[in-house]
Amino acid sequence: MAHSTITFLSFLLFFSSLAFAKTHYHDFVVQSTKVTRLCKTRTSITVNGQLPGPTLEVNNGDSLVIKVVNKAKYNVTIHWHGVRQMRTAWADGPEFITQCPIRPGGSYTYRFIISGQEGTLWWHAHSSWLRATVYGAIVIRPKEGDSYPFAKPKGDSVIILAEWWNANPVDVIRQATRTGGAPNVSDAYTINGQPGDLYNCSRKDTVIVPWNSGDTKLIRVINAALNQQLFFTIANHKLTVVGADASYVKPFTTSVLMLGPGQTTDVLINGDQPPGQYYIAARAYASAQGAPFDNTTTTAILNYKNSPNPASNPIMPSLPPFNDTRTATAFTTSFRSPGKTLVPTTIDENLFITAGLGINQCPPKSKNSTCQAPNGTRFTASMNNVSFVLPSNYSLLQAHHQGIPGVFTTDFPARPPVSFDYTGNVSRSLWQPVRGTKVYNLKYGARVQVVLQGTSIFTAENHPIHLHGYDFYVVAEGFGNFDPKTDTAKFNLVDPPLRNTVSLPVKGWAVIRFVADNPGTWIMHCHLDVHIGWGLAMVFVVDNGVGQLETLEQPPEDLPVC
Ligand code: C2O
Repeated sequence: MAHSTITFLSFLLFFSSLAFAKTHYHDFVVQSTKVTRLCKTRTSITVNGQLPGPTLEVNNGDSLVIKVVNKAKYNVTIHWHGVRQMRTAWADGPEFITQCPIRPGGSYTYRFIISGQEGTLWWHAHSSWLRATVYGAIVIRPKEGDSYPFAKPKGDSVIILAEWWNANPVDVIRQATRTGGAPNVSDAYTINGQPGDLYNCSRKDTVIVPWNSGDTKLIRVINAALNQQLFFTIANHKLTVVGADASYVKPFTTSVLMLGPGQTTDVLINGDQPPGQYYIAARAYASAQGAPFDNTTTTAILNYKNSPNPASNPIMPSLPPFNDTRTATAFTTSFRSPGKTLVPTTIDENLFITAGLGINQCPPKSKNSTCQAPNGTRFTASMNNVSFVLPSNYSLLQAHHQGIPGVFTTDFPARPPVSFDYTGNVSRSLWQPVRGTKVYNLKYGARVQVVLQGTSIFTAENHPIHLHGYDFYVVAEGFGNFDPKTDTAKFNLVDPPLRNTVSLPVKGWAVIRFVADNPGTWIMHCHLDVHIGWGLAMVFVVDNGVGQLETLEQPPEDLPVC
């Protein structure tokens, strides 16, 4: 081939690969919208009047430009849950962490690239409890011309699980903040915004998922609930798990999924059953003993198009008991990456972080009505005995980037101040955390291990722990107190799954590893909203590395100020 032909061909290749990556422009208008559920109508905060909000559909490598206009009466921010945001921390979204809120009447344009991630993520408000109704799916397909690591499905559907309150969710959390007690549990779970057949006044709006006999489709399940881990199943159908949190996994088959809030799971379903109607159903996995929870069941209907009798009653699956930790664990420990991974095997930063609830004594001279947690106290929560407090006049990212003093301190401890029997009977003297905006500093490129240790202070429960700006490898999980002497041998350093949210077992531990290759301020928190408000969070500040490609971008000009 002549030299000029080769040059021409490589030019062509270069431009066609650029042409594949698209930029998607969207307007998100946050507004108040009348919504009717469970026989009642109330105004809800929505995006573009939709509940769930719009689904973003992209290919791996595409860019997104989303102008968020706030026409509601609350401060708002939008978080793109699980998007890595390499060097674009300004677009991550958590209020007072990477930006100040978008005030009523204000706007902000989020610009970011989705790169190296395929599967399902989602977006949600990251301010107060607005994400109860401000949420939607992000569907990431392979680059055009690339294939799935499994036979191409005959289509895909999003199943987004959420929670519905008859009251305004912002009022629910405000009341709990006043009283110090636990907020009211939800009135329903929903599938794609609808509670389904088992709730009052809901049957006619039940979501129908149409199916052709024999088709294999990809179902993208998202847990967007505020405060509840959920079991999920489909009557008579096997679920083949192929991905989670926008990373592929080694396929495995199960009859039930368990997702913590924040997690996504992609499953292949084969329409291999007798034509008919089958319920898709979800209900709580409630691991905290004695704590109140919403014990209702949400349903949608998988409907074979050639059903002989479409009016027949759909077949109901059985779901695990609410407290079935054994099933939850069998599921979460089935995950493997498809092949050998790049999990770090040498560690520069080894942290041990306890996570759990706590109790604050009633402040002197305060009214009884403000101390409604058990024995006249107020609920709180902490990591390593620090109950995280959001700043209010600068975001942490601004403060870090501009060197503004007094906004945070860098003394988040790498281990708990005292060691104790974390999952045993914890002495009352250890129940009350300190409050603070404490961060942990990481050098660019540091190889980090975090042992997350659940505590049984007040009550033990499962916590979905989410880290912004990163995917991490989950190298092990177990029950009781983590013991480096015996548990290190159980680490999977070959094919551990890559996640952005790990399900920290009740009275147990989980170990995650990641490389700090994304500069910025990244919050790690429990994805039960009730626990974030109580302070179950901490922040990693990751320094810039060397050169532009390892350095945080400059802030956008329209970045909201406080
Ligand atoms: Cu899905 Cu900090 O959030």
